[in-house]
Amino acid sequence: MSCTIVCGGFWGDEGKGKVVSYLSSTDKPDAAARTGVGPNAEHGFIFQGKKYDLRQITCAFVCETAKLFIGAGVLVNPEIFLKEVEETKTQNRIWIDRQCGIIEKKHIKAEHSSEYFTGKLKTMGMGCGPANAERANRILKIAEEIDELKPFLTNVSDELNDVLDRGESVLIEGSQGCSLSLFHGTYPYVTSKDTTASTLAADAGIGPLKVNDVVVAFKSYVTRASPGPLANEYSFEEIKQLGLQEAETAIVYERPGGIRRVGRFDFQIAKRALRLNSATQIALTCIDKLYPECRGVKRYEELSAKAKDFISNIETKLKVPVTLISTGPATHETIDLRETKL
Ligand code: GTP
Ligand code: MG
Repeated sequence: MSCTIVCGGFWGDEGKGKVVSYLSSTDKPDAAARTGVGPNAEHGFIFQGKKYDLRQITCAFVCETAKLFIGAGVLVNPEIFLKEVEETKTQNRIWIDRQCGIIEKKHIKAEHSSEYFTGKLKTMGMGCGPANAERANRILKIAEEIDELKPFLTNVSDELNDVLDRGESVLIEGSQGCSLSLFHGTYPYVTSKDTTASTLAADAGIGPLKVNDVVVAFKSYVTRASPGPLANEYSFEEIKQLGLQEAETAIVYERPGGIRRVGRFDFQIAKRALRLNSATQIALTCIDKLYPECRGVKRYEELSAKAKDFISNIETKLKVPVTLISTGPATHETIDLRETKL
């Protein structure tokens, strides 16, 4: 039996989707579930030459034998879900919980005209905040009330616990990041629920003692799409010098001020994230953005000396093994050190 959770250690966009695509294509979990807030998170990676940007379906779909789920804690926009089912051709092996909350047009509209979106929070505009507010008030529609979703309904907690009880494996894909947690993040510049591993397990309906591994994903630097505090922020000049193009070009959805800011790897925040999530492993992503010579490298020995120093400094300071190193957006642009480090 094994249950692994992949979650974010900074403010989201750490590359959890890419990490999940790698873990599922190599480990072939029997079941995988997407957890977290809902379609406000986009998980991008390249698999067999095709780019995917998934908002609802777990990136574990790349493992064709895995049963796929969306946990009860997750908000579902039926239109986006059905489009992604088609794109990933997963009609016959995907299920959502009867009690997933449903995002309707009114929630999107409400968010767009609210201060969440236009004011200081600058939220994603996918309707998640207003929907979760209705959910807390017990007036939100749930998946079993939506006709188009009927073929996909199940009790995800029962399904996943059955898988674990049979001695099989489950992979849980979180979304957002630790510092965006409603409880533990940089309130009020946070998302509409907790984002730590405990809540991700609860989203899927799995008890804490069933979880064996928690992989916390960190980018090699910190990015933040939302306003709010960001220590050690790079200036645009430094970003240019470092070639961190992302900061200048990543206009996150069409919303005011939607530019990702970039900061140096933050050890204090990382340490806290490892505790909050009881991390057993670190997945370090985008090492190629900091050290372009490392792009696409699949063996540790082939990393540059600077990159190796950077990684060993992280391990020394944080005392959790860096088991996965992502060197590009494609699933197999990954260095896997689990056999030697665990
Ligand atoms: P959220 O739940 O939205 O926080 O998402 P996430 O953690 O899954 O990350 P997301 O996919 O939003 O952002 C990461 C982006 O970087 C995606 O476009 C990935 O394809 C890309 N990416 C992931 N890992 C790497 C990497 O190692 N190198 C490079 N160059 N790109 C990467
Ligand atoms: Mg994203």
